[in-house]
Amino acid sequence: MTTQSSLPSSAVLAPDPVAFRAAMSRVPTSVVVIAAMDNDVPVGMVVGTFTSVSLSPLLVGFLGERRSSTLPRLLNADAVSCNVLHDSQLDVVDAFRRGIDERFEGLDWHIDQGFQVPVLGGATLVVFGKPTSTADAGDHVFAMIDVNGIQATGPARPLVFCGGRLTRMDPGRLVAGDIWQLGYGSTHDGSAARVARNAVSE
Ligand SMILES: Cc1cc2nc3c(=O)[nH]c(=O)nc-3n(C[C@H](O)[C@H](O)[C@H](O)COP(=O)(O)O)c2cc1C
Repeated sequence: MTTQSSLPSSAVLAPDPVAFRAAMSRVPTSVVVIAAMDNDVPVGMVVGTFTSVSLSPLLVGFLGERRSSTLPRLLNADAVSCNVLHDSQLDVVDAFRRGIDERFEGLDWHIDQGFQVPVLGGATLVVFGKPTSTADAGDHVFAMIDVNGIQATGPARPLVFCGGRLTRMDPGRLVAGDIWQLGYGSTHDGSAARVARNAVSE
């Protein structure tokens, strides 16, 4: 049986859902709670698909499962918060396994007075925005969100989902320095890629 940690090393696998899922678990993701107020009740769901989308206009997005009961409540909201979880927030992931109306119980959260959305205390980054459009994405929907505010707290220590496990980044084990200072983004011809090699300072 193919498990998440034991893929055949060099075989090209047939694209069945089990192998696909196991393979894609090697792609690390952030762990983000997308949240909104729904008739004075906080609602939210954990996603591993939060991503920045566009600089002009400023857009972020995530993929929501079509059968999710939280998704429509988020998409219908005037405003949402995208809470990028800190690596100390395992309790939040645990709490969000509960039923839709009980997920915020006992957690450290408040309503942001400006945007009127729930914010989880301790999140390493909160992006405030308004859901604007969706795109079909198979059994998921890609939801796009206009960005109206950002709030970063402390050093970037995001919880990371990889290999089916929750883990953390270890800044002491970086393999390269600041990618942008190394030239990525300043040129668009690929030459910057050469600069990154041997950039590890140990
Ligand atoms: C680490 C992690 C990442 C997840 N990523 C996604 C995701 O990107 N999209 C999604 O729809 N569900 C994702 N889920 C599952 C949802 O959090 C969960 O199924 C959902 O909240 C339950 O559906 P409900 O909205 O009907 O309660 C993820 C769960 C975990 C623990």
